[in-house]
Amino acid sequence: MKKNFLCLSDFDANEIYALLKLTDHLKHGIYSEQPLKGKTIGLWFTLPSTRTRLSFSAAIAQLGGVPLMLSSSDLQMQRGESLEDTIRAMTGLLDALIIRTENHAWVTEVAKLATFPVINALTSKLHPCQSLADLYTIYEEKGDLTGLKVMYLGDGNNVCHSLMIACALTGIHLTIATPKAHQPSKEIYHHALNMAHLHTTLTLTDDPASAISNCDVIYTDVWTSMGDTSKDKSVFEPFQVNQSLLKNASPDCMVLHCLPAHRGEEITHDVLEGTQSKVWQQAYNRLPAQKAILINLLMH
Ligand code: CP
Ligand code: NVA
Repeated sequence: MKKNFLCLSDFDANEIYALLKLTDHLKHGIYSEQPLKGKTIGLWFTLPSTRTRLSFSAAIAQLGGVPLMLSSSDLQMQRGESLEDTIRAMTGLLDALIIRTENHAWVTEVAKLATFPVINALTSKLHPCQSLADLYTIYEEKGDLTGLKVMYLGDGNNVCHSLMIACALTGIHLTIATPKAHQPSKEIYHHALNMAHLHTTLTLTDDPASAISNCDVIYTDVWTSMGDTSKDKSVFEPFQVNQSLLKNASPDCMVLHCLPAHRGEEITHDVLEGTQSKVWQQAYNRLPAQKAILINLLMH
């Protein structure tokens, strides 16, 4: 049966660890095979992207396949062709489809219609491809994931949602500090709790300092995501990742951000460029992580 990658919880903990091992092998091992030779993979992005678009395109090309950028304005859907007929046309012409769009339900619908694997490259609900690279970056820096402590600060958004699931599956303790009105979705919180590794905790708070002193990783993302309506940014100010917050953390604590960053909003320039920041390593890890997802879905 074909597999999709719509949410990290499409995979169990053992499969996530296998993906992380494969990511490591693809980053460091000599991998001269071209497992995607002869395969054409569509990238259908209705929202902007730099890292996801580039890392998937490069991953497909380096594995021997052909990445094909699809824009809604070039497809006949623009002139009224139904989604059903569009996906039917893609069947037999594409080997997989990578989609970035706001509406998560729409991606789920595409995955139901498609006979080929569908990969979620970000919706307003989830960003699972990012989370795999995040887990791998934490593993690279800290080793065994089980028992580590991560603190996420800012908006309870798509990146936060996928991080909750990623931490729950791998046994990482996660504290999420957001303004009360911007907490993550309760549905995803409970979904993550249900699959939580024994002893893993998932804590929601509105106190940005609560878990800083003993965390291994601080993670933040933009306060306004693509597709968000305008927000009162002042409520997020106490959640900024800056030097005064970092003073209370251990010097070994690493700082992550999925990027793009809004310097001076969710994170200051000096922290983003400081020694504790691993954000560029995290961005470059998208390449082996995306390769691992493609190989898993297309070769097994
Ligand atoms: N982190 C991330 O997904 O970046 P892009 O929006 O540039 O793809
Ligand atoms: N939360 C951000 C992530 C961008 C990679 C957004 O959805 O815009």
